[in-house]
Amino acid sequence: MRATEKELLCIMNSRATMGRHKAALLLPVLLAVAMLPLGSAVFTEEEILSFTMTDASLEGHSRSLLQATTTATTGSSSTSAASALPQLPSTPEEHCPLARGTWCGPYYQQTPTPRPPPKRGNKSCPNNCSGVGQCHYDHGICYCPIGFGGPDCSTPRKRPCWRMGPDKRDEGWHNHTDWSHSRCAGICDDSNSMCYCPPETKYGRKEAPPGSPPGTPPVQVGRPMYWCQPSTDKDGTPVKWGAVKYEDLFGPGGWCNADVPKFLCPCRIDGRIGALCNIPVEQFCPNQCSGRGECDQGFCRCHAGWYGSDCSRRRAGASMEETLPDYLGPKPWLAAAVTPPVAAEDPPRTAPQRKRPYVYVYDVKPEYSSDILQYRIERVNCKYRQWELGNNSVWITYNAYAVEPLLQELFLTSEHRTFDPEEADYFFVPIMWACLFDVYGWNPIPRWPADVHGPRPYGASVMQLRTAQWLNATFPWFSRRGGRDHIWLTATDEGACSVFKDVWPGIFLTHWGRTDFPHLPNSQYHADYYAAPIKHVEHDGEWLDQTSRAHPCFDPKKDLVIPAFKRPEHYKRSPYMGAPQYERSIFLFFRGDLRIAPGQDPECKYSRCIRQTLYNMSREGNWREKYNVWFGDTRNVPGDYSELLAKSVFCLVLPGDGWSPRLEDAVLHGCIPVIIMDDVQVVFESILDVTAFSIRIAQKDLAKVVDIVQAVPEGQIRIMQNNLAKVWYRFRYLGLKMADADAAAVVSEHRATNGGLLRPNPGAQYAASRVDDAFSTLMQWLYARIPDIQGKL
Ligand SMILES: *[C@@H]1O[C@H](CO)[C@@H](O)[C@H](O)[C@H]1NC(C)=O
Ligand SMILES: *[C@@H]1O[C@H](CO)[C@@H](O)[C@H](O)[C@H]1NC(C)=O
Ligand SMILES: *[C@@H]1O[C@H](CO)[C@@H](O)[C@H](O)[C@H]1NC(C)=O
Ligand SMILES: *[C@@H]1O[C@H](CO)[C@@H](O)[C@H](O)[C@H]1NC(C)=O
Ligand SMILES: *[C@@H]1O[C@H](CO)[C@@H](O)[C@H](O)[C@H]1NC(C)=O
Ligand SMILES: *[C@@H]1O[C@H](CO)[C@@H](O)[C@H](O)[C@H]1NC(C)=O
Repeated sequence: MRATEKELLCIMNSRATMGRHKAALLLPVLLAVAMLPLGSAVFTEEEILSFTMTDASLEGHSRSLLQATTTATTGSSSTSAASALPQLPSTPEEHCPLARGTWCGPYYQQTPTPRPPPKRGNKSCPNNCSGVGQCHYDHGICYCPIGFGGPDCSTPRKRPCWRMGPDKRDEGWHNHTDWSHSRCAGICDDSNSMCYCPPETKYGRKEAPPGSPPGTPPVQVGRPMYWCQPSTDKDGTPVKWGAVKYEDLFGPGGWCNADVPKFLCPCRIDGRIGALCNIPVEQFCPNQCSGRGECDQGFCRCHAGWYGSDCSRRRAGASMEETLPDYLGPKPWLAAAVTPPVAAEDPPRTAPQRKRPYVYVYDVKPEYSSDILQYRIERVNCKYRQWELGNNSVWITYNAYAVEPLLQELFLTSEHRTFDPEEADYFFVPIMWACLFDVYGWNPIPRWPADVHGPRPYGASVMQLRTAQWLNATFPWFSRRGGRDHIWLTATDEGACSVFKDVWPGIFLTHWGRTDFPHLPNSQYHADYYAAPIKHVEHDGEWLDQTSRAHPCFDPKKDLVIPAFKRPEHYKRSPYMGAPQYERSIFLFFRGDLRIAPGQDPECKYSRCIRQTLYNMSREGNWREKYNVWFGDTRNVPGDYSELLAKSVFCLVLPGDGWSPRLEDAVLHGCIPVIIMDDVQVVFESILDVTAFSIRIAQKDLAKVVDIVQAVPEGQIRIMQNNLAKVWYRFRYLGLKMADADAAAVVSEHRATNGGLLRPNPGAQYAASRVDDAFSTLMQWLYARIPDIQGKL
């Protein structure tokens, strides 16, 4: 076997697109590929660079952005010119088709109020956070980046490489034979466990001279050696934990020494690209520090006078007018990804435009937030967008948990955000729950509790409990209502099944609406098996008694199943986006992961064995030929996913390891969902009349699926299709720069094929509008719940 450079890159990139980030399972394969030398070919830097830019979707996106800019200026006039296009709602009632209960409407009956000037703090921090941390001027608390800790960020806080000695080098290549991701044959950056070529090599890491102030960047960053471990030492003695020829790393033509090396180690850290990993690009931070700070892998170093985890706050006494190095100056590229935070405007907008709920977004201690981002050693993890060559802001091809970074940015930039916790109706706690799942296996740090490598839901749940305890000990607002007004997001496969009962009174936003109790995990993946028993002094007794045995996964009275996030291009062929309407020529459709490869899932636990069973039935019973039922994975059912959905009458909604975003896919394309997952509520099922636009089949009736769906009368199909057009827009997110630009680009493409006008398809008036989108729906629901939470309005 021999991989071409391109295949190699594809494999590397595909880790990003792998469902639920279980790539660790594939490690031997990846390692085997990573070991392969790239042949004897020598590449120029341009050639090498082009390998990283082959993803067509990235190029497509740059195009879209251009078009989006054009649309933005001409948008409204051509929309109103399309007279047949229905109007957006104007009365509260018009906002509420198919709403269940009384939550919908009151939000729109509010009288908007003026926004007070944003609160600004000036409480100073101990020792000015030693010049490395970020002072939070409301509380006088230091927030420290990785490497530093303690009340003033002066205590070293290390994340050593595996088997690292005090000189930041390996303790001996032969003394220990065990492999780990973070075993380092070069020099270790022990703040985040990243390995670099050693300083004695030409492209080695050269630290700042001794005596430099803490946090001084290295003189030379050095080429990373991550995924690059040697198969022998320099004398040819085999090294048990490595796979790359010694020469290829340390020889004169090797990665650490040659200007154009014959062998390339992968470049996968955030902030540097190119095959030589030497081209600096912007790194990922929440809302890019609002354009008011420098982003360090997820930690914002705010410009002087600015503060907060997103640098949106202005210190009291610092003038708003003074010349600031904001992004429009030295970093114009940031404008593509920074959504200006409404709550930060000072002076505030004058027109009364403020509505409740008011939501306070905590600046969470780095241990539970920015550390996790800084500990990423894979640039694609934990985000939905990234910076590419030329600091172009592009989409990540696929991150199942993309709603986590997205929702954090939506809360940070929302007009509902308040900087004043005293007036807040709700508190959003932006911990990196799903992101932790991505970084959990790489290194003994971070772990919760520190000495246990338990299943990932356990680690995340303990981290969440620590966060609640820290909030409770540091601020008065957690205990005020027993945590009931605190909002948590648990975006991973089995959502909130495993959270601690001390945190459970809060509001859980999740994709997994499982309601039965008691419950056991669905996952066939051992690292996610939340029923694994663990006893630890830090949680008195068996953790299950305090978590999954104490509550259901989802409580429709206080929690909400929210949509997964997909960029608008994902549903670009939908009639709701103004695409030409296809004939719905496929009767029943499903395409997705089946886990049927030998040995992949011997107990058939994935998807509760529903996908696998249906797949067998569909093949054995010739469903495609007999009933026009398309069921399979990408090999059996090739083609453009969006187009296939837009051409289908019914679409199956089946679980994955836990949730799977199939309801969203169906609804966004006007395909009637056929839900098969007992005791699991789908997105917004507790607040919308889902039965008006979907059908549900019990798991015991799998064999009768085709009969049941065929029995749906034609008239009812029409009614459900009409209903889908009345709710579809609640199932997607707009409101951030990139998402809005993406939607505008899709719409403008469709306009261009229709004489400049948007096709008046039912529902298409919402195509690029944020009105009543998923986040807005969440706000409306939260507003209606205020009396319940607080006992008053
Ligand atoms: C801090 O703010 C308070 C109230 O806003 C003000 O009275 C005080 O003078 C300020 N202190 C400093 C050092 O700016
Ligand atoms: C405090 O530290 C920041 C860097 O974090 C620096 O910009 C600022 O000048 C320092 N202020 C003082 C008073 O030393
Ligand atoms: C590793 O082996 C070397 C000799 O090869 C020895 O000098 C060194 O002390 C050993 N280190 C440890 C931690 O055992
Ligand atoms: C991209 O951003 C990085 C980080 O701010 C900067 O170092 C680099 O010079 C920028 N590149 C370009 C082409 O502007
Ligand atoms: C919060 O603090 C209060 C008072 O100190 C305590 O009674 C309560 O158990 C704490 N809650 C949590 C979740 O730690
Ligand atoms: C599906 O069919 C294959 C091949 O006959 C069989 O090995 C497998 O167990 C079947 N799976 C289910 C869930 O019926």
